[in-house]
Amino acid sequence: MAVGILLVGGFGTRLMPLTKHTPKPMLTIAGLPVTEHQLAMARNAGITTVVLATSYLSELFTPYFGDGSKWGIKLIYAVEEKPLGTGGAIANAAQLLDTQESIVVFNGDVLSSHNLKEQIRQHEANDADVTLHLTAVEDARAYGCVPTDSNGRVTAFLEKMDNPITNMINAGCYVFNPAVIKAIALNTVISIERETFPELISKNAKVFGFMDNAYWLDIGTPEALLKGSRDLVLGVADASALSMAHVARHEGGALIMEGAVIDSTAVISGGSSIGGHATIGASAEISGSIIDKGAIVNSGAIVIDSFVESGAIVEKNAHISHAFVTKDEILSI
Ligand code: GTP
Repeated sequence: MAVGILLVGGFGTRLMPLTKHTPKPMLTIAGLPVTEHQLAMARNAGITTVVLATSYLSELFTPYFGDGSKWGIKLIYAVEEKPLGTGGAIANAAQLLDTQESIVVFNGDVLSSHNLKEQIRQHEANDADVTLHLTAVEDARAYGCVPTDSNGRVTAFLEKMDNPITNMINAGCYVFNPAVIKAIALNTVISIERETFPELISKNAKVFGFMDNAYWLDIGTPEALLKGSRDLVLGVADASALSMAHVARHEGGALIMEGAVIDSTAVISGGSSIGGHATIGASAEISGSIIDKGAIVNSGAIVIDSFVESGAIVEKNAHISHAFVTKDEILSI
């Protein structure tokens, strides 16, 4: 059985101002924090111990997730006083695990329905040092690309370039032999992508790719955050976390969490989700959007492809499209 580390300590600058008071992994998509969707995926693959590697706004995770028992997971918290980068965070978190088992590391901003059990199985069958989930994208120029040889062994870890030599990219889920993590320096800022992986490859370590093109999305940009939520609501992405959540209604392209108050003349569609104790007024139209818990959309308002933050208010008859609505501002995205 493998154990997990979830990287949730980044600043999430691309999602400002939503991430001003809420760390990106705690943002709500399809009624639940991103991390909750990821924990369900880990649990489905048989992982029952997970370290949350926190830093930015670290204090906001524990009140919600506690010891993890509600999800059948033992949750442990690692806190970096200053962010250590992805590699430093993994080394720091692994100290709390003391294990001989494979360690699965998840970027905390990825929705993926790939076959994690099979990734772990192949890693162990290959006796690999690291096995990276790789996914194909149409245009790899925005990412670094990861070529492999005919045996699936990673041959290079390349930075963004104009003419990528493959469309396979790092999908942000790694299975490690624990000894490889033990060799990463402690209390040092290190990037796993820019430093550790290229170094391992240059030393001819056994770094394998696990190719799986199931649903995959990095929710780190405004458009992707909204798309991820819609995909979960519409059943395009694996939404198994919802089976344990307090859902009032999930049908017709809408997800309504328990406690939301919705006028019978309001129309909710296009994969929208309405958080608990949100209020939606008469004749309001909500499409493709996330209305977070306790937010208010007043009567006659139209909200399209937007995120309305917890506690924010959309005024009567307002037209909001492709925007973040916070308690202080409305920002086009
Ligand atoms: P941007 O600032 O918008 O790029 O987002 P980010 O800060 O989350 O960075 P990025 O998307 O590159 O990070 C990938 C994953 O690693 C995310 O889940 C981050 O939370 C996490 N992460 C990044 N840096 C750190 C770090 O220093 N410590 C920890 N614990 N996690 C990190």
